[in-house]
Amino acid sequence: MEIAVVADEQGVGRSAADVLEEALRHGCRRLGLATGSSPLATYAELVRRHREGLSFAEVDAYLLDEYVGLAPGHPESYARVIRRELTDAIDIDPARVHGPDGTARDPREAAAAYESLLGAVGGVDVQLLGIGTNGHIGFNEPGSSLGSRTRVKTLTLQTRLDNARFFASLGKVPVHVITQGLATISSAGHLLLVASGAHKAAAVAAALEGPVTASCPASVLQLHPHVTVVLDEAAARLLT
Ligand code: F6R
Repeated sequence: MEIAVVADEQGVGRSAADVLEEALRHGCRRLGLATGSSPLATYAELVRRHREGLSFAEVDAYLLDEYVGLAPGHPESYARVIRRELTDAIDIDPARVHGPDGTARDPREAAAAYESLLGAVGGVDVQLLGIGTNGHIGFNEPGSSLGSRTRVKTLTLQTRLDNARFFASLGKVPVHVITQGLATISSAGHLLLVASGAHKAAAVAAALEGPVTASCPASVLQLHPHVTVVLDEAAARLLT
């Protein structure tokens, strides 16, 4: 595992974009994308580099997760968020941006279909990840099996409180999600975790230096052969 500590969130974005650009230039064609605040600086940097010539025309992108039950086209659905923050601003084919269908009549079937799709393509080359304050990756909340696959999960109150900033009120934050499982995420060739801010420091330290345990789902990264972690100084402050 390679851990890079840089000064601030913009530095995290530049360093993570370096990793992704290098992967793209060496043939990465299946890119795993996260949503939420953590990757925003990375996406802003990728958009800037796209304007200078970095192309995503040959790339398929795969989302980590999606809320269940938001109306189609809801601005906070992750399908919409990724368009707004990244894919509408680069030359990726919109038909090649994939994610679980949170509007499906049967979310369990939608989860199984997404897992099948990921299996059929052989997993992604590089998976970008953020980390929740409770140590989740994707929406694999504490207690998630390290062997889990894409499925429907119930969000913890902590995660719903953390994400309430994107919604009008806590009551509007969905309770259920479809998320890639920890084993699904681990099937990526390369995992790239980004974190910024002091509020992530405890989760980062538990994930990288604590025991490998379902109580801290991100600790599964310790089992993967190719992991890059990019942190700002605040997020790294509890590392020994
Ligand atoms: C989002 C995702 C989540 C977030 C995590 C951190 O697709 O999979 O694991 O990365 O909840 O969220 P932010 O980045 O908003 O602090």
